[in-house]
Amino acid sequence: MGHTITLIPGDGIGPEVAAATQRVLAAAGVRIDWETHDAGAAVAEKRGTTLPNEVLDSVRKNKVALKGPIGTPIGKGFRSVNVTLRQALDLYANVRPVRSLPGVEPRFEGTDIVIVRENTEDLYAGLELMIMPGIAQSIKLITEKGCLRICEYAFLYAERMSRKRVTAVHKANIMKLSDGMFLEVFRKVALSYPKIEPAEMIVDAAAMNMVRNANRLDVIVTENLYGDILSDLAAGLVGGLGIVPGANIGKDAAVFEAVHGTAPDIAGKGVANPTALIQSAVMMLHHIGESTAGDRIENALIALYRTEMRTGDLGGRTTTDEFTDALCKRVS
Ligand code: NAI
Repeated sequence: MGHTITLIPGDGIGPEVAAATQRVLAAAGVRIDWETHDAGAAVAEKRGTTLPNEVLDSVRKNKVALKGPIGTPIGKGFRSVNVTLRQALDLYANVRPVRSLPGVEPRFEGTDIVIVRENTEDLYAGLELMIMPGIAQSIKLITEKGCLRICEYAFLYAERMSRKRVTAVHKANIMKLSDGMFLEVFRKVALSYPKIEPAEMIVDAAAMNMVRNANRLDVIVTENLYGDILSDLAAGLVGGLGIVPGANIGKDAAVFEAVHGTAPDIAGKGVANPTALIQSAVMMLHHIGESTAGDRIENALIALYRTEMRTGDLGGRTTTDEFTDALCKRVS
């Protein structure tokens, strides 16, 4: 039986990497009826909103979406579509596996970290006000419920994936109430998972440790802002944003998307690396019970990286289409 999945191609390189991913899934023989919806800057001009209701309705109905990046204006303009989508669908767990690929020079051999980032709270709650001219306030909102479900998710994930350690990354030495509560909840949840080693790290030390020796880390669980920053750092350790996938998971829906943004500097040139979205789609295949196809695509991708084929972000000259053609041949 086929699957009906919502596709949001997004802005910038989004449509290019989304089309590449669709082709690879089709070559692997996965039967998907795509419900394609636009969101973001392109649709805002025509529809007066960046996230038309039918996009949310489609994801709610299908329960699974594959999404390209969507641009967010800096400082002013519309609210981030990504944040709105995550909050509206309560996609509370952002899972980002950061693994090195063969032939892509990582900073350390065999890096394999998973960042589990809380996705709906923290400074991303969008609670900001100008107290008076010259004084702005952004509220960091952390709830016990939010801490509990993300810590539970991280330990369950670690257990399911046979991981050994979960490290809570925090700044509870300074933010004693918000991060203090996160840490307290983490310690309580850890007690229910005696086979998984719990560890704790202050966020600035975590950044340094990742750069010095990322292999000491296994699963990281952290709040929204720290997770955002650390996942780009982690991507840098394994070859950049072009290869790192992600998933936004909630109780009733899941949206799979790469860590990278719209890459305006290369959009429309046909040179984007589709690996990150393809790897996000592999996570999606596991989520919908198509693990055989997921494993086939992943193995083909690893085999392709053992060849000379590299897109520009990794120092090569292979175009998006050439890369996708070669991958399709290997999976079909
Ligand atoms: P970015 O990730 O778009 O680009 C950073 C650098 O990485 C650029 O040099 C770009 O060319 C390169 N890059 C990223 N993905 C690549 C790929 N697949 N292949 C080859 N090179 C790639 O980050 P930036 O410039 O900070 O953000 C641009 C826009 O994207 C902003 O409006 C931002 O809000 C949005 N954004 C959206 C995200 C989402 O929809 N989930 C996530 C991150 C940013």
